[in-house]
Amino acid sequence: MLYRSYYNRQYYKRIEQMHEKYGPVIRTSPNEIHLMDPENYDRIYSSPSRYEKPAAVYDSYLSPAAAFATPSNEVHRVRRAALNPMFSRRMVLGLEDVVQSKAWKIIELTTQALQENRPMDFYHAFRSLSTDIISDFAFDKSFNLLDSPDLGAAYLALIRQLNVGPWVLQQLPFLIPLVTRVPPWLAPLLSKSLGSVYEIKQQCADQIEDVRARLTTQKGVHDRPTIFSQLIDPPNTTGDRVCSTDDELRDEALSVLAAASDTTGNAMTVAAYHVIGNRQIYDKLTAELKRAFPDAEAKLDFLKLEKLPYLTGVVKESLRLFLVQSTSIQ
Ligand code: HEM
Repeated sequence: MLYRSYYNRQYYKRIEQMHEKYGPVIRTSPNEIHLMDPENYDRIYSSPSRYEKPAAVYDSYLSPAAAFATPSNEVHRVRRAALNPMFSRRMVLGLEDVVQSKAWKIIELTTQALQENRPMDFYHAFRSLSTDIISDFAFDKSFNLLDSPDLGAAYLALIRQLNVGPWVLQQLPFLIPLVTRVPPWLAPLLSKSLGSVYEIKQQCADQIEDVRARLTTQKGVHDRPTIFSQLIDPPNTTGDRVCSTDDELRDEALSVLAAASDTTGNAMTVAAYHVIGNRQIYDKLTAELKRAFPDAEAKLDFLKLEKLPYLTGVVKESLRLFLVQSTSIQ
């Protein structure tokens, strides 16, 4: 871990050098190996897998009750099975109106900025778009960051802080039981990152309570299932809950919110940067979109969008570039 931290953002380059010298399998620390052959990738990440997530890494995220941080494959499989239906294609298609209405806000904000001849803050707008959608889908209550004057900058700064703590705690794991026991008022005084973990956990606990209260008072009124309405009140006949304790629900909420904001937001930023900055890509993409949607005011229907080959290529390439960039940041 110390060796990795020493190289920090350049560690992936160091790894590449080591692979060039020693081959496709290298031991990077006493209990860590790094592989670069695709055959091994498939063997490790297949399901079922013999390999568990390393607790030393995932404990440092301070959300031990989330599925994301569950090292045991058996327990993880059960936890994931509860989430899987919510990420099915049918569910995602059912979310299209929410996505379209929030994406439309970015068009309005951009038009307004152009009319007033001022720059548009896409960095925060894309991350807020992502957060507004996932909070709607998770709690049936969008955070509506795109409606705030700072475009969600304050909230997103808090979320970004979540990624700082793990670097320290992976070096000094003996601190983990200590920092999880400090009183909430002390956490921000000890570290900004720890303060943000406590603050977001409290926000998540409040959201869960709110969903629970709405499920009790509006039983049957919910016409759209959300991640937490399903976890709290599962649709199975036995009513058995996989995510049963308050800590599990709270940590799952934190994991979902953190998973959705910077990732998708970052991928959209990368896509916009390359499409706008490269005339050839821009022309080809807009020509394809105009052919598919001759009426500029028409809704960009997802089922039609997903069949456009050049757009699909742009999305996949943006994901690839964003992941390369993230690797260089970590
Ligand atoms: C470009 C976008 C995204 C990328 C590249 C991405 C990538 C990943 C990766 C690599 C993991 C595995 C992390 C690990 O186990 O160490 C993961 C887990 C997860 N992601 Fe995403 N993600 C994206 C968007 C989202 C979105 C929009 C959501 C929506 C809620 C989401 C929810 C989750 C959840 C809940 C997990 C934990 C799942 C588990 O442990 O089984 N992700 N993601």
